Amino acid sequence: MFYKTGEPHGLAHDPFSSCIVPRPIGWISTLSAEGIPNLAPYSFFNGITYAPPMVMFATNGRQPHGAKDSVANAEATGEFVYNMATWDLREKMNATSAPVPPETDEFELAGLETEPSELVKPPRVKASPVHMECAYHTTLELPCDIEGGRNAICVGRVIGVHIDDDYLKDGLVDIKRIRPLARLGYQDYTVVDKIITMMRPGGA
Ligand SMILES: Cc1cc2nc3c(=O)[nH]c(=O)nc-3n(C[C@H](O)[C@H](O)[C@H](O)COP(=O)(O)O)c2cc1C
Repeated sequence: MFYKTGEPHGLAHDPFSSCIVPRPIGWISTLSAEGIPNLAPYSFFNGITYAPPMVMFATNGRQPHGAKDSVANAEATGEFVYNMATWDLREKMNATSAPVPPETDEFELAGLETEPSELVKPPRVKASPVHMECAYHTTLELPCDIEGGRNAICVGRVIGVHIDDDYLKDGLVDIKRIRPLARLGYQDYTVVDKIITMMRPGGA
């Protein structure tokens, strides 16, 4: 099949996000300008550069109360934290995606314990095995077809990385034990539990 975006595709559901899989889940913690903790999953998330290490997450559309909080908070405070979502944390991760107003602390909502960060103010998800403390770098505004919504990419510079020592084995991050959760299309997810190793041409 072929369809032009913006025109009917004839399928029961929009296939777009099913064609970009699996997507890592950036479980983003921030503080509002008033100091209220905020936590939400973003699957339009990725690492984008190594030196310096930088990450991005993209906000889409709107909540009932207006544009989403995470980017606004990162912009207002200059900081955010990426927490890794895992298989074990899937239900709590999902609970933090509830469309609640900025006054709601999603750590409390989902019953998640916090842990202070080293270099930034937003707290970390204690149960998550990997965290990256980020300094807000920039926002790239994108076209948005949803009235009252905001599509934008928020970019941060990673200034500190936490890895739970229990998940380090022979100096490597033990992904098979961590079991990161990843997003597919529709309401589907996958979990990283199969790993293959492949050298690049030239051995790099
Ligand atoms: C697994 C998962 C991935 C999500 N990815 C995104 C995303 O990439 N961009 C987005 O705008 N919303 C995404 N959402 C929805 C947001 O998490 C949800 O709108 C949340 O309430 C936003 O919170 P905030 O307003 O505190 O930032 C996702 C939800 C789930 C469950």
